[in-house]
Amino acid sequence: MSGLFRSRLAKEFGDRAARFHTSVVEDLRIFEDDINGTEAHDIMLHDQGIIPRDGLKQILAALEEMRESWLRGEIEIGAEYEDVHEYIEANVIERVGIDVGGMIHTGRSRNDQVVIDMRLRVRDELLGIADQLLELISALIARARENTETLMMLYTHGQHAQVGTCAHYLLSYADAFVRDFQRLMECYSRVNLNPLGAGPIGGTSIDIDRQRTMELLGFDGLVENSIDATSGRDWAIETAATCSILISNLSRVAADLLEWSTVEFGYVELADEYASSSSIMPQKKNPSTLELIRGKSAEAYGCLTELLTMVKGVNSGYCQDLQQTKIPLWRCLDTTQTSLEVMTGIVSTLKVNADRMRERLGGSLVVAVELAEMLVTEAGHSFREAYRLVASLVRECIEKGISLSDLTPADLEKKSIELLGKGIKVRDKELKEATNPEACLMRRRSQGSPHPDQVRGMLSHLEKMMSEYRSLLKERENKVSRAMDGLRKTVESYICQ
Ligand code: ARG
Repeated sequence: MSGLFRSRLAKEFGDRAARFHTSVVEDLRIFEDDINGTEAHDIMLHDQGIIPRDGLKQILAALEEMRESWLRGEIEIGAEYEDVHEYIEANVIERVGIDVGGMIHTGRSRNDQVVIDMRLRVRDELLGIADQLLELISALIARARENTETLMMLYTHGQHAQVGTCAHYLLSYADAFVRDFQRLMECYSRVNLNPLGAGPIGGTSIDIDRQRTMELLGFDGLVENSIDATSGRDWAIETAATCSILISNLSRVAADLLEWSTVEFGYVELADEYASSSSIMPQKKNPSTLELIRGKSAEAYGCLTELLTMVKGVNSGYCQDLQQTKIPLWRCLDTTQTSLEVMTGIVSTLKVNADRMRERLGGSLVVAVELAEMLVTEAGHSFREAYRLVASLVRECIEKGISLSDLTPADLEKKSIELLGKGIKVRDKELKEATNPEACLMRRRSQGSPHPDQVRGMLSHLEKMMSEYRSLLKERENKVSRAMDGLRKTVESYICQ
């Protein structure tokens, strides 16, 4: 059969041009979405008195037969078809004849059709990613619960900074992923809108009902303006941007865990099922899944850049450039899904080596801030005086090879007189407290600090938010599945008559 859309043209596409032009490969992902969108459109056309009942019955039966063959893996679409839209329409016509099958595309263009398919697909995948993200946050919360008292070094510039806890670190990323979840939900609300009924660019003279297809497919609203509906791809860019930000958070966690898995650190160890080994070095346990999460983040950013570049110069109205948007969009979604899934597994099975973390703190100079702050609160020094005093003591400790906890009140008194020209009264108990990692953590009660009470507060707040997010997500998933079940039933009711 000659190309369905080539009546105007005297010749078929050449082989090479057909292969160059077709989108059938990237369209496989929207095969079922195209069937669903077409069914909703044709049911609406019937409601509007445009397709007669018997015609609709035949069309829907043909579409459902095609869905069955698709699900059985029997469908292969060659480059002789421009896209999945042509394949499906041609197939319906082949099954039921052009007098009936020829009605399915009434009042519709491939320009609104492809966008509805893409939006249906992306909304499902956004919900899937959001679901997986909540799993990851839950895993972080669970691991944090076990580690509220696990002391850990905090680093800035890669150097010892302050005493922290493992739970506090884990929750810092739980918070970042909560923002990613919020961004996904925001993005979803702009994706789940109905572009169908916009026609090629300027609407249609057929008496369609856009509200009806919107309801049938479970959309939350319309993309009203027909130019915007067919040519806008900002929602696809937003999807890739949202995924990219999420993946940048994943990548930073990966960077931390990679460093902490080195033999030199030994803070954490990946479960064997997330590690690989070497072809020659029998001793190797490589945390390569984390390296891949970090590496694959580049893929997501590449997709985002590809989309931005692809769309920026395209005049309003559909242009074939937009066909290419599916490719980076799918890749970006795939990478995000798989990276998230693997990170969730890594976090849930990660071995935290609390002893090793604690060992690193012993004898380190990391308590210097608390010591200086103690001189402010207990001895009445200004902070800068205290800072100078402690910095000088730090230098001396390094020279002598001792630690700050070896100092006595007399050492402080002597240094204060020498450096600031005034004495200082510090009690031994306070000095010991300020230079002991456990005690100095307990002195740090500022909101959001790693103090176990603060962390427990943040944990319960997060858990409360998580249950709200779970219901929000369930609500959205239910709305979609209710609409799709309803569509299925409506389709069956016509077919079975
Ligand atoms: N295959 C196209 C795409 O994926 C949709 C068709 C629009 N084509 C057209 N000639 N108006 O974007």
